[in-house]
Amino acid sequence: MAIMVSFLCLVLMFSLVSIGDSLSLNYYEKTCPHVDFIVAKAVKEATSKDKTVPAALLRMHFHDCFIRGCDASVLLNSKGKNQAEKDGPPNISLHAFYVIDNAKKAVEASCPGVVSCADILALAARDAVFLSGGPGWDVPKGRKDGRTSKASESIQLPAPTFNISQLKQSFSQRGLSMEDLVALSGGHTLGFSHCSSFRNRIHNFDAKHDVDPSMNPSFAAKLKSICPLKNQPKNAGTTMDPSPTTFDNTYYKLILQGKSLFSSDQALLTTPKTKNLVSEFATSKDAFYKAFVKSMIKMSNINGGQEIRKDCRVVN
Ligand code: HEM
Repeated sequence: MAIMVSFLCLVLMFSLVSIGDSLSLNYYEKTCPHVDFIVAKAVKEATSKDKTVPAALLRMHFHDCFIRGCDASVLLNSKGKNQAEKDGPPNISLHAFYVIDNAKKAVEASCPGVVSCADILALAARDAVFLSGGPGWDVPKGRKDGRTSKASESIQLPAPTFNISQLKQSFSQRGLSMEDLVALSGGHTLGFSHCSSFRNRIHNFDAKHDVDPSMNPSFAAKLKSICPLKNQPKNAGTTMDPSPTTFDNTYYKLILQGKSLFSSDQALLTTPKTKNLVSEFATSKDAFYKAFVKSMIKMSNINGGQEIRKDCRVVN
């Protein structure tokens, strides 16, 4: 009986997860051979004018893949009564959608009707990391764009207040391991966070502590001055690390010093396995880069989608 139950659980687990194996590196070899170059050019142009673009694109791709797979559902606009994913609470702070529009326009001018918005977003996320001084890799392609996008589903994204078992569940439901969790969280070497994402740790943390005791006290004091309990400036927040436009392993060094922003970052120290990985990535940038590339390719392979959208904001 016990064997039967565990077998059924395994079957269920695999049916919930669908990591694509149909993507290929030369998918557009005949139909759009220069797609990588065209997308990279659009990302580079936008980044030269606005340094916050790479962080935005990397996060956008992650949010896309975690809801309905990497199917560009995050790019669709709300229409009529349907509130789209991008208007759901965790996605309000996503930005730089125009960069994907520009890339799509340039791609359509060269090879109309063949390249999905989901592939363009996956390529743009890779370019974002590389342009920030991070590793480069070949992106497998052949994703399709989805036709459904619901704001209500955006709550399925992991929250910054998550503990390690909640993070584990969120990642494993999508076929991703604890190593993927630690490596991909390294994306928090880029960009900016609003106070709302970490205020649980610096005011009224729990019955005994005002501030999360796992947080470095002087770091907590700094965050409190940026994000006071009352009269907080609109849009207040702080950079994810002191070098928010450089992709490096500083994020892991900061976690070890109690200087990470989110509970979900600090939670990586709460199991021996994830803590060892944090220490390894803090010591070796190469080990982090290698693991990050492997996990990005895995995350960007999560399946979804049916069509090649003409306009990334609207279904065909
Ligand atoms: C492990 C679970 C994760 C949680 C709970 C989480 C949560 C968050 C939160 C709350 C913010 C700040 C939003 C704001 O206040 O404006 C943020 C920013 C960011 N996240 Fe994550 N994240 C996670 C994983 C990831 C992954 C896997 C990546 C990419 C590989 C990523 C990349 C980013 C980037 C680049 C930013 C900065 C965005 C910007 O400056 O525009 N995150 N994340």
